[in-house]
Amino acid sequence: METQNFSFSFAGASPQPHLLRPKFLPNLMRMIDTCNNKSKKIKATTTSSAPLPPPPLLRVSSDSLQYAPGFLGAVPDRDGSGNAAAVEYCRTNIVASNFYQVAVVSPLQFAPKISQRLGVNMWLKREDLQPGHSFKLRGAYNMMSKLPREHLERGVICTLAGNHSHGVALSAQRLGCNAMIVTPVTTSELEWKRLERLGATIVLVGDSHDEAQAYAIRRGEEEGRTFIPPFDHPDVIMGHGTVGMEIVDQMQGSLHAIFVPVGGGGLVAGIAAYVKMASPEVKVIGVEPIDANAMALSLHHGKRVLLDQVGDFVKGVDVKVVGEEDFRLCRELIDGVVLVSEKAICASMKDMHEEQGTILEPAGALALAGAEAYCKYYGLKDETVVAVTSGANMDCSTVRMVSLVGNADGQGEAQGEAMLAIFLPEQPDSFERFCEQFCDRIVEINIREFTYKNKFLEGESVVFCRSPLLSVVYISLSTGLVMPI
Ligand SMILES: Cc1ncc(COP(=O)(O)O)c(C=O)c1O
Repeated sequence: METQNFSFSFAGASPQPHLLRPKFLPNLMRMIDTCNNKSKKIKATTTSSAPLPPPPLLRVSSDSLQYAPGFLGAVPDRDGSGNAAAVEYCRTNIVASNFYQVAVVSPLQFAPKISQRLGVNMWLKREDLQPGHSFKLRGAYNMMSKLPREHLERGVICTLAGNHSHGVALSAQRLGCNAMIVTPVTTSELEWKRLERLGATIVLVGDSHDEAQAYAIRRGEEEGRTFIPPFDHPDVIMGHGTVGMEIVDQMQGSLHAIFVPVGGGGLVAGIAAYVKMASPEVKVIGVEPIDANAMALSLHHGKRVLLDQVGDFVKGVDVKVVGEEDFRLCRELIDGVVLVSEKAICASMKDMHEEQGTILEPAGALALAGAEAYCKYYGLKDETVVAVTSGANMDCSTVRMVSLVGNADGQGEAQGEAMLAIFLPEQPDSFERFCEQFCDRIVEINIREFTYKNKFLEGESVVFCRSPLLSVVYISLSTGLVMPI
């Protein structure tokens, strides 16, 4: 582990050419060749230009685009060239031939309980079962394994970003190269220790992710290390896209839609590229949390935008700006974005636990939450849908909180008890004022147990109270009204 003083200068790493063919699914590759003849007019994607200074981005708030849970919004304007663009993208960006030496073909599993409840056929693409428990290994390994040997010998570098840095560390271990992972000094030891155990060199620098990122780019330039970005690179996108390739191969019969979690947009862009090439009739639908909706807003405005603030409950998708290449592809290829609340995500995490005995991380359950909401909103019956369960790396405190939020509607509690989730201003005496205002007025609200979580939302805390309620009550925090129902 190194600790560094921080100073800033910018330099980029150049992407590498990628020429190898996947061993997997030769029929898809034949399809590329056939379709390719039809798409001669589409320009090849340029992947090797030096980075330009970023254009100024429009700043927007996540509140400026909200719609009903399950509604398919942010539907991009299309010029009809999506299929040809997908074919061209897959043709020019080929997956590394040794790809499946490290990633596994994850199972596509039927979810009987959720299917029965919703009246659809819900399938889960279990990316949480990849080595490292997330799909991120696919993109990192695909990009790194295509680097020439002499580049690998100089090592790679990235910033610590949850599942991505884990994918980089694991890939470096398999490829026998050094991964340097740069992270702010404030990062908990627990987070970087597991990367160090995989053989990565950890550098602690700066107080923020931006500072660590700037340092990583400069250090990469100085030492000739290749910078591995989390989502904005064709090799990363195509590595992630193999999830779509497998779904098309594994799924029997017709498929209505594939739901994909969206952060920077690498996973959804890659899946859309494969699926729109092989089965253009299948919808590819992105899913975002309501307070981290950078892709929906970018599609809505027809250009990438910068979120002024982003909710951080769903780690990994809490990005303020989606990737440039990812946005370009999503605009051409995806069918829209569904937005879901934190509570819906927690409920889907519980569904997954009941269905498969697996605890997904919030980002890992995001697509399932979107798929469930969409099926309900459109009253879908007997259709087949797939949700990509993208990751299962979670800390214990989040598990506890999710279980509380998932129970906040009182379901599953002992009879006569309810779990209330109460949002309060992050100020001294808030809880006391709440008790004075509400509990003293209704004898049944004796708080038996409470848990406090600060910084749940900006300026707010959430308090979970378990209380024996003889009757159900309606509580309005804004009007102070308490009413038996
Ligand atoms: C578990 C999980 N799901 C989804 C995403 C979003 O992926 P992308 O940034 O490619 O959109 C991430 C990103 O880190 C993730 O860790």
